[in-house]
Amino acid sequence: MSLASIERFAIEDAPHLASLAARVGWRDTPDEWSTVLAVGDVCGLRVEGVPVAVAARFDFGAVCSLGRLVVDPAHQGRGHARRLLEHLLALDRDATTRVTVVATAEGEPLYRRLGFRTVGRLHKLVGTVGLTHAPSLAPLTVDRLDAVCALDRAVLGATRGSLLRLRHGGCTRAAVTGRDALTGYAMRVRQGGHAVLGPVIASDAHEAFELLRAMLVGDVQCCRVDVPAQHVGLVMKLEQLGLRTVAVRSVMSLHGAPLPGDLARRFAFASQAWG
Ligand SMILES: CC(C)(COP(=O)(O)OP(=O)(O)OC[C@H]1O[C@@H](n2cnc3c(N)ncnc32)[C@H](O)[C@@H]1OP(=O)(O)O)[C@@H](O)C(=O)NCCC(=O)NCCS
Repeated sequence: MSLASIERFAIEDAPHLASLAARVGWRDTPDEWSTVLAVGDVCGLRVEGVPVAVAARFDFGAVCSLGRLVVDPAHQGRGHARRLLEHLLALDRDATTRVTVVATAEGEPLYRRLGFRTVGRLHKLVGTVGLTHAPSLAPLTVDRLDAVCALDRAVLGATRGSLLRLRHGGCTRAAVTGRDALTGYAMRVRQGGHAVLGPVIASDAHEAFELLRAMLVGDVQCCRVDVPAQHVGLVMKLEQLGLRTVAVRSVMSLHGAPLPGDLARRFAFASQAWG
């Protein structure tokens, strides 16, 4: 059988990639895929014009993140995922760039075979919550985006400015903390039927919880937040608010290389693919 050639997907593919992701139970919307296509290298395979496999790479300077790896169940087990990841790993990058991924249980064996090692874990928390009282924090307005991007870069060691600006454009809520200098920020976006909280950057767990409570105030809605497992106390507090851990995922890096930045100050991921 001849192999389909790997192609780069474009913005028009967003609805088709959302339906491909739905075939493995992911709830990504076409809008979410439009952002993925705008900020990443997204490649994949088509059969009769329809995408059957996809994977993405996001270059954030010192950090390169892989994700959004999906193969249509009818086409799994034929080496498509391995081929796509080898292709993305072969694209140019600086020798010092660290490559990372958050792997599902299904994806982890493949990443392990490609040389990735677990360097951390995250809790995927989901629940229907709407708080009536929450701290009143300063809103994250457009004029503070430069400061937010600088703080984000210091914490992640990665340059995610274009992603953060796009995400801010689609935010339903966003707040900042800090008196003279900014010490934290949080964003909330709508994704399909639920609200995603993240990223959350803060100087400590107390501040992160305040930011998250500010994101949870308002209509009772199904919410999701991905919290690094090292923040055990924060996970427990969120569980007390009604969220529950529905999955624990491996945060991996190529050859187990330590990831840059000051990750103790990252309290929620923007998304699993974006760190
Ligand atoms: C995970 C997934 C992408 C694998 O796609 P695929 O095209 O079937 O994978 P491949 O055929 O390229 O398999 C590559 C290797 O991984 C192994 N592998 C694939 N799925 C596996 C599984 N569930 N358990 C153990 N090993 C697995 C294969 O045996 C193969 O090993 P080999 O190269 O040494 O022979 C696919 O199952 C999928 O889309 N799952 C749902 C979405 C998901 O979880 N994505 C991963 C996000 S991290």
